[in-house]
Amino acid sequence: MRKTCRISGDKLIQFLDLGKQPLGNGFLISKKKIVREYFYKLKVGFSKKSNMVQIFNAPKKEKMFNKNYAFYSSTSSYMDDHFKKFSNQIKRFLKSKNIKNPLIVEIGSNDGIMLKRFKKFNHLGIEPSRNVAKVSKKKFSCNVLIEFFSKKTLNKIHRKFKKKVDVYYSTNVLGHIEDIKAVFNNISNSLSNRGILIFEDPYLGQIIKKNSYDQIYDEHIYFFSLISVSKLAEIYNLEIFDASPQTTHGGSMRYYLCKKNTYSKTKRLKQLLKNEKKLKLDELSTFKLFSKRVESSRNKLISLLNKLKKQKKIVYAYGATAKSTTIFNFCKIKDDLIKYYFDNTKIKQNKYSPGMHIKVNSFQKLKKYPDYYFLSAWNHKKEIFKKEKKFIKNGGKWITHVPTVKII
Ligand code: SAH
Ligand code: TMP
Repeated sequence: MRKTCRISGDKLIQFLDLGKQPLGNGFLISKKKIVREYFYKLKVGFSKKSNMVQIFNAPKKEKMFNKNYAFYSSTSSYMDDHFKKFSNQIKRFLKSKNIKNPLIVEIGSNDGIMLKRFKKFNHLGIEPSRNVAKVSKKKFSCNVLIEFFSKKTLNKIHRKFKKKVDVYYSTNVLGHIEDIKAVFNNISNSLSNRGILIFEDPYLGQIIKKNSYDQIYDEHIYFFSLISVSKLAEIYNLEIFDASPQTTHGGSMRYYLCKKNTYSKTKRLKQLLKNEKKLKLDELSTFKLFSKRVESSRNKLISLLNKLKKQKKIVYAYGATAKSTTIFNFCKIKDDLIKYYFDNTKIKQNKYSPGMHIKVNSFQKLKKYPDYYFLSAWNHKKEIFKKEKKFIKNGGKWITHVPTVKII
C-alpha cells in the first residue's frame, strides 16, 4: 500500500477505512458468470504538508475509464442547465478580457454536455472513455481527442491550433487523475499569459459537513479544498484568483486559476478561505471526527433497513450511483435489504451492482411503487422529487443518509 502523499511525498496519514470495495461503476452483466470481480482496499488519508485528502490505492486509470464507462453526463437535465450557465460565464469572461479568437480545451468532456456549447469557438475535448466521447463527436460534432490528458496531448494541441490555450476547463475530472502534478505542469506549460484554468469538483468542506462519505470511491482520488489546491498550484506558478461554491454533485467548489499575479484575488475568495480555516480543513483532527461520524452513519442505516425488513416493507434504491457502491459495500447491504436499484441510464440497466449484486432495473419495469426509496442519487434530489410527485403523493417515503440517516 502507498505510504506517502502523491503531491508532497510526506507521510499519508490514514483516517478512514471503507473496507474492501469493487469499482464504483463496475456494474456486472451477469450474477452467475462472475469469475473474479475486482476488489481493492478503500482507505483515505491526509497529508500535513500538502493538506490534500486522498485515497491510498487507486485502480489503474484504464480499468476505470474505457469504452464501457457507465456515466453519461447528459442523463441529468439539471446538469445540462448548470453547464449552460457555466459556459455562458466563460464566454462573458473572454469578452470582458477582450481575448480574441480564444482556444478552449476541456479535460474529461464525456458525452459533450458542456463542450457542445463551444462549438463556434476553437475548441477541443480530451476524453479517454471511447463510448461517451463518441456521443460528443457524433451527436454534437465536437472536436475530441480520445485519450488521457498528457504531455503528448499538448503537442497535438500545438500542432492543430498553433497557439496556447486561453481557457482550460474541467468538471468532476481533476480529482479523478492520479498524476495530478503532471496535469498542473502540463496546463501551466500550455496556458496563454492571460489564460485561465477553471475547474469544479465535489468540495471537501461539503463532504465533511454533509457526512457524504459516499463521494469516496475508486474514481475520486483527491478531495480538494482551497488550501490544498492553492498549495498544489503554487508549485507550477499558478494561483487561485477566485472561487465559487456550487450546488452540483452534493456541493462542489469552482476554482479559477491563472498564472501568478495575472488577475487580482476576489473578495469572495478571501471570505471562502476564511470559512475554510473555520472548518479546519487543514487539521487532521477534523478528519478523525469525520471518520467517527461515518461509522455511526453505517450503524444507523443498517439498523433502519433491518427494521424495515422485519416489517416486510419494500425498499428500492433510486439511482445506481457509483457513490452508493461505497455505501452498500461498506455496510454490506444486499438485495434482502434493498431489493432493486432503479436507474434511467441504459448501460446500467439489467446489470448487477458492483460487489453486492443488486439488480438494476429501468423505471419502465416498475409495476408498483415501493414503500421506500433509498435516495442513492441524493445529489439530484431536487430533480428527482419533482419527477416523483406521484410516489410522494401516494405516501411513498425516502431514506437518506445525508447529513444523517433519516426518513423523509
Ligand atoms: N465532465 C463531465 C464528466 C465527469 S466524469 C461532467 O462533469 O459531467 C469524469 C470524466 O473524466 C470521464 O468521462 C472520464 O473518462 C474522464 N477522465 C478520466 N481521467 C481523465 C484524464 N486523465 N484525462 C481526461 N479525461 C479523463
Ligand atoms: P450521479 O450521482 O453520479 O450523477 O449518478 C446519478 C445516477 O442516477 C445516474 O445513474 C442516473 C440516475 N438518475 C436516475 O435514474 N433518474 C434521475 O432522475 C436522475 C437525476 C438520475
